[in-house]
Amino acid sequence: MRHFLQLEDWTSEQLHALIDLASDLKREYFAGGNAPILKGKVLAMIFQKPSLRTRVSFDVGMQHLGGSALYLGPSEIGLGKRESIADVARVLGGMVHGIMARVFAHDDVLDLAKWAGVPVINGLSDERHPCQAMADVLTIKEHFGRTHGLKLAYIGDGNNVASSLLLMCAHFGIDFSIAAPAGYTLPQKVKDIAAPLVARNEISFSEVTAPADAARGADILYTDTWISMGQEDEAAERIRDFAGYQVNAELLAQANPGAVTMHDLPAYRGKEITDEMMDGASSVVFQQAHNRLHAQKAILATLLK
Ligand code: CP
Ligand code: NVA
Repeated sequence: MRHFLQLEDWTSEQLHALIDLASDLKREYFAGGNAPILKGKVLAMIFQKPSLRTRVSFDVGMQHLGGSALYLGPSEIGLGKRESIADVARVLGGMVHGIMARVFAHDDVLDLAKWAGVPVINGLSDERHPCQAMADVLTIKEHFGRTHGLKLAYIGDGNNVASSLLLMCAHFGIDFSIAAPAGYTLPQKVKDIAAPLVARNEISFSEVTAPADAARGADILYTDTWISMGQEDEAAERIRDFAGYQVNAELLAQANPGAVTMHDLPAYRGKEITDEMMDGASSVVFQQAHNRLHAQKAILATLLK
């Protein structure tokens, strides 16, 4: 049983194949529509947190491939509260062909996979966001025509998005530099997992505190919210700690000519990114958001077919 839970479970070759498939499915879709390769298949989508992109891309992705999706929000099933994760997984596994879950604790999505008996996809956990990283690398490849030899500067919180992005960059030969305030850099566990990939694919990985030090020589400036879902109580402290960690025109001037700006969204304009970097010539933010659809289709086609 294959799942899409965390990027270390997939080889670089397999992830390259997934991205190639995403490009093919995108081309096929715009050339008249996708073949209904998932006809009759149903994806259950469990959400413990809000979502726009993840929910819509998986639902519409299933529809384009001939299948359908079922939304199960926090009040519907009470994952781990009304019923244990193992029981939810075993019940769903007998009724649907795959499960996509957005959870708080990363172990919860691993637990679902352990019990479901059908493929499970991580639609974001507190530790990882691998589906986002798929759309990110697809966008980078489309824009630059390659991934190897590029440098990505991640400005801000060493969170779920940053963790998956480091692993994805390591798989795709993209140098990665993160600028984060003390106490907010990447978890040691993720750096340890990335280390062999970083060595094998000969990418450079660095952690700095000043955003300009990461941005220098970068082809991509990437940022995410300072306050992730579930961290709302820490908002005041985080806004204070991340002051200055903003993707703006001044920072872009430090990067390579032709550098692009990226954000997984939702964005807090005026905080981690300016309007100009979202809407101006450097932005590939909306292409990146749209690519969630095509990247998610590749995961669905591979796991559920
Ligand atoms: N980027 C992303 O996952 O967006 P949603 O939270 O809206 O799904
Ligand atoms: N780091 C953010 C990503 C949202 C898509 C969060 O976890 O809320």
